[in-house]
Amino acid sequence: MREIIGVIGAGTMGAGIAQVAAQAGHQVVLSDTNPEQLLRAEQQIKNSIEKLIEKGKFTAESGQQILHNLQFSTQLSEHSQASLVIEAIVENLSIKHQVFQQLEQVVGPTCVLASNTSSLSIASIGACLQDASRFMGIHFFNPATLMPLVEVIPGVATSNEHTQRIEHLITSWHKTVVVCKDTPGFIVNRVARPFYGEALRIYEEGLADFATIDWAITTIGGFKMGPFTLMDYIGNDINYTVTETVFAAFYFDPRFKPSFTQKRHMEAGFLGRKSGRGFYDYKEGSTAPVPTEDHNLGRQIFERILVLLINEAADAVFMQVASPEAVDLAMTKGVNYPKGLLAWADELGASWVLERLETLFGEYGEDRYRPNPLLRRKAREQSKFIL
Ligand code: NAI
Repeated sequence: MREIIGVIGAGTMGAGIAQVAAQAGHQVVLSDTNPEQLLRAEQQIKNSIEKLIEKGKFTAESGQQILHNLQFSTQLSEHSQASLVIEAIVENLSIKHQVFQQLEQVVGPTCVLASNTSSLSIASIGACLQDASRFMGIHFFNPATLMPLVEVIPGVATSNEHTQRIEHLITSWHKTVVVCKDTPGFIVNRVARPFYGEALRIYEEGLADFATIDWAITTIGGFKMGPFTLMDYIGNDINYTVTETVFAAFYFDPRFKPSFTQKRHMEAGFLGRKSGRGFYDYKEGSTAPVPTEDHNLGRQIFERILVLLINEAADAVFMQVASPEAVDLAMTKGVNYPKGLLAWADELGASWVLERLETLFGEYGEDRYRPNPLLRRKAREQSKFIL
């Protein structure tokens, strides 16, 4: 059904979300306080639609229709007829509060209000509203037009009815929706932390260099990208900030402890591809470092990172953040993991995973290797995560 969808903030995420909704046939109003940003977003969407027409994804006619579906405005009042408004402005609680309080005066009583926040809690944003039962998180991944996953996050005050309606609606936008609890990092940004953190730790211990760790994860593990290549893509500033935020939000649980190596790279301005240098050098004429292709070492590296990822996935299920199926979908559709982590655990056997974690825990005595109780239970019962 054609609805009127509002998107606030025409930056990286907002422009993409508006395009996704317009492609799904809705009438979309994209607003931003900065008119130049709106022009940039409009041009970006036009270019993207043209490319999709060239690729044969749309006919020229339906491409035109998608562009007609979009309206650009500097006025919040243009959202008055919307049935859903998704906010994608700066990650700042007090600015988000100001926008939602104004928005609540503009929209009708049944309009659902949502935030695309990555790191603020849904409860804290919704607290500024008179009716928080219609507020939730709708978390798209970058680039929103390409990444299939959307995390839908009801807060403590959100009504089930609204959550179900939005789950349905976003699914009809050809997205894979997972519903999860309002906890730090939601699913993906929580479960994925060891992919970066343990790779950095292995490097810091001097066990292997960046290229060798990346080689192990891609060649032996089957991941599309190694952790250091991926951190360079994301940007060390962004990736480090997510880790630090999740670490603080978990009351400094050592499982999420950030790494000095990444912090130093960030401080030095080695942000990754965007700055020409991160863990690797991207300047013209630079040559890529050669990995040490030692299979035994590679296997050790891959297994150590994998068991920590599985432990984190198990914890998300244990703490009722999401179902095992949702956690696996989130990691395959949100960050392109080659397999769902819990299906992977089932394949390897929970006892195999537990044994490796216990060895690490025994050797280091650090809480970051503490095996999750649900994993222990699965190993004891010889049962599977995914039924
Ligand atoms: P961005 O900086 O690219 O865009 C933010 C936009 O909001 C700018 O165009 C700015 O002019 C506009 N804006 C700022 N204050 C405003 C106001 N009061 N009213 C209307 N517009 C206003 O930011 P980005 O990266 O798109 O992030 C937006 C949100 O999405 C943040 O909450 C972020 O945490 C979240 N997010 C970001 C992802 C990413 O990879 N960039 C991924 C998933 C979520």
